[in-house]
Amino acid sequence: MAEAATDRGRRRFLDWFLTTSVGGLLVSILYPVARFINPPEVPEAATNQVEAGATNDPELLEKGYKIIRFGSDPVILVRVSNTDLRAFSATCTHLDCIVEYQRDRERIWCNCHNGEYDLSGRNVGGPPPRPLQVFQVHLTATAPDRPATIVVSRT
Ligand code: FES
Repeated sequence: MAEAATDRGRRRFLDWFLTTSVGGLLVSILYPVARFINPPEVPEAATNQVEAGATNDPELLEKGYKIIRFGSDPVILVRVSNTDLRAFSATCTHLDCIVEYQRDRERIWCNCHNGEYDLSGRNVGGPPPRPLQVFQVHLTATAPDRPATIVVSRT
């Protein structure tokens, strides 16, 4: 009689132990999968201004442009002359390819479908339906004999 009661107690303990173990295992597998599929919304910090290097940046001098990060958005910084730098969204308004600058043609060009923009960001050729978003460029000099820092901000 006492052995039967002890066996029932062991069985109940084993049932409880196996059920909670399997439940814990399933939760530990399914919870991360559920968070991956449906991540929590985290608002992105607003970026209003970024430093884009110095005016003597080798990439800028060699190619006449460079792509910088403005928060999570790519921005194309174009060097028209020593003192004339311009910045636009680098995302083509047609199908979101990244544009580049053709210095010899003085055109911002999208190689996906041969879209073209002028140096004001206006769409002037190919399929892009809208102009590129324009950013402001400021040069801040720390000393007269040193290259200025390029600061890009929203207009
Ligand atoms: S994505 Fe730029 S022209 Fe089509």
